Amino acid sequence: MRYFLTTAIDFVNSRPHLGTAYEKITADIIARYRRLAGYDTHFLMGNDEHSQNVFRKAAEQGTDPLAYCDGMEQVFRDVWKRLDLSFDDFIRTTDRKRHFPAVQKMAQACLDNGDIYEGAYEGWYCESCEAFKPEKDLVEGTCPIHKTTPKWIKEKNWFFRLSKYQQPLLKHYADHPSFIEPEIRRNEILRLVEGGLEDISMSRAGQSWGIPVPFDPTSVVYVWFDALINYAAAVGYGWDDALFKKWWPANLHVVGKDITRFHCVIWPAMLMSARVALPEQVFGHGWVYFKGERMSKTMGNIVDPLDAANKFGPDPLRLYLAKEIPYGGDGDFTWERFEEKYNADLANNLGNLVNRVASMTERYQQGRIRTTGGGALAAIAAENVAAYKSAMNVHALHEGAAAAFRLVSAANNFIAEKQPWSLAKDPANADQLNGVLADSAEAVRIAATLLSPIMPSSAREVLRRLGDDRPSKDRRLDTDASWRTSGEKQILNAGALWPRIEAEKGAVNVTDETPKPAEAAPATQAGPAPVAATPSIITIDDFAKIELKTAKVLEAEKMPKSQRLLKLKVDAGEAEPRTILAGIAESYEPEQLIGKSIVIVANLAPRKMMGLESNGMVLAASPDGGKAFVLNSEPAPPGTKVR
Ligand code: MSP
Repeated sequence: MRYFLTTAIDFVNSRPHLGTAYEKITADIIARYRRLAGYDTHFLMGNDEHSQNVFRKAAEQGTDPLAYCDGMEQVFRDVWKRLDLSFDDFIRTTDRKRHFPAVQKMAQACLDNGDIYEGAYEGWYCESCEAFKPEKDLVEGTCPIHKTTPKWIKEKNWFFRLSKYQQPLLKHYADHPSFIEPEIRRNEILRLVEGGLEDISMSRAGQSWGIPVPFDPTSVVYVWFDALINYAAAVGYGWDDALFKKWWPANLHVVGKDITRFHCVIWPAMLMSARVALPEQVFGHGWVYFKGERMSKTMGNIVDPLDAANKFGPDPLRLYLAKEIPYGGDGDFTWERFEEKYNADLANNLGNLVNRVASMTERYQQGRIRTTGGGALAAIAAENVAAYKSAMNVHALHEGAAAAFRLVSAANNFIAEKQPWSLAKDPANADQLNGVLADSAEAVRIAATLLSPIMPSSAREVLRRLGDDRPSKDRRLDTDASWRTSGEKQILNAGALWPRIEAEKGAVNVTDETPKPAEAAPATQAGPAPVAATPSIITIDDFAKIELKTAKVLEAEKMPKSQRLLKLKVDAGEAEPRTILAGIAESYEPEQLIGKSIVIVANLAPRKMMGLESNGMVLAASPDGGKAFVLNSEPAPPGTKVR
């Protein structure tokens, strides 16, 4: 089983931005998924260099265009490396060994088969699209994509007989219903082709920057005709028949919605003309906008993918793009939402789970787990693995990511429900405790396996902590994403993977504490808090609404008929001592608290419990939901504001 997939090759007149990076990241996720699923995968990316914009840009800088492209190749490769892209090959259209012979062979084949003829062209040309624009497509005389005025061009050109392929293309779409995905693009293309096709120019006269037309040395091949051939060129077309036979036809071209028509109309027509097999599928993804706006230099709103990757590493960005944007549709990026999702999915959900499993296993079982079986959680895992596979097989990356996270949430809920910290109090529960930890660890292992195409290095680290240090290339979905019922694991408790970030008036501080909702359970709550849903980020102004103060415990006594509550009288530096009921009776004898300096929430609305009014809340931490420790405020005197 082999799988050959490609991305669009990028114009190199500017650096990659979040939009171009989105395409590469999502294609990388598909490539990694196919490898995990056992396919012999070949993932191709590259640069599109024969554009007039590049030629002009190099001239502006007083550089030779090829030297300019060499420099840009490094810029692109550096960004792609930082985003952890696993491409197997990178092609440039200035590659004389591979790309030139392929383009010349295909142009010649189209000529030989009667599909190229000489004519004269007149029309509007958008230099940013590198495409002729029919007058009807212009908006107030400008290109609807670039908002610039196209140039009127009149020249002798070679034409490709695209019109001849209207019916063969429609037949191909009908015979291969999944040739164009998603549905919305398929419908767009069907409408376009049903409306009739005009022949297109395939050469530019009097230019030097490009690949010479083999039958007319005074012209170069038009940049789009040239660029589309990269996919075949990279795998041997025109220069290595055996290689070409191995990888062609491509299984998938991943491209943006703006260029789907080049890939679903012109490219297959060129291949039909040259008698070359058609790719299996073209997937036209949507666009990523920034706060709802198209990213552009003129708007000054371009998001540099390096800024996003440098914030928390590449994986949280990869996760955001895969999970938050339904693949195929458009999506939005804002820094606020990115940080919010980071906290919700990684710090609070997955990070919290890994941390709880590792710290409790260390504390209660010296880090060792015996895998025992699996009940409800195993069934949830199986259900989500199946959902993940069906989604990923049709490139529904957002649904695949959601399935993996449903398993993570289920494991967190399972821990909250089984309360391993309570089981740990009685040695008679040792087997049951091991079972809960083992099932949770098994769920983490499977979730990390499912997430490995999306978050490769994080998944690898999670799996390493679970005692599995194999490289990703050795993992397989069928064996690694199925529930194991026996074996022993040594688990590593190695600290927070995704420290929670706190937003403060535009600045973002990374704290070195992973939140552990169970440990942060306020003492006045019954038992450990359930796993936090997704607390949103608050501003410093929100925080300022909470009045935290130091207080000294003057009196403490058990509440009759309550196992949990202690009644405290505290001095909070106010005219009168206050009464606070705190759920810490299982952790402290009343006399242990007398004289202690603690921290309270002073402006909490009074609350009646067991017939008595509590005026405030005592702050306490209970690791893994076990013994609560009240926060000590020594040496600050009672009534000191805590911030
Ligand atoms: N060079 C051509 C493609 C030739 S393929 C034979 C080209 N280059 S590009 O640099 O303009 O765009 C590269 C890819 O990035 C395209 O698939 C394009 O749709 C995609 N994107 C550019 N901006 C984007 C967003 N804002 N969001 C998502 N994808 C975007 O077109």
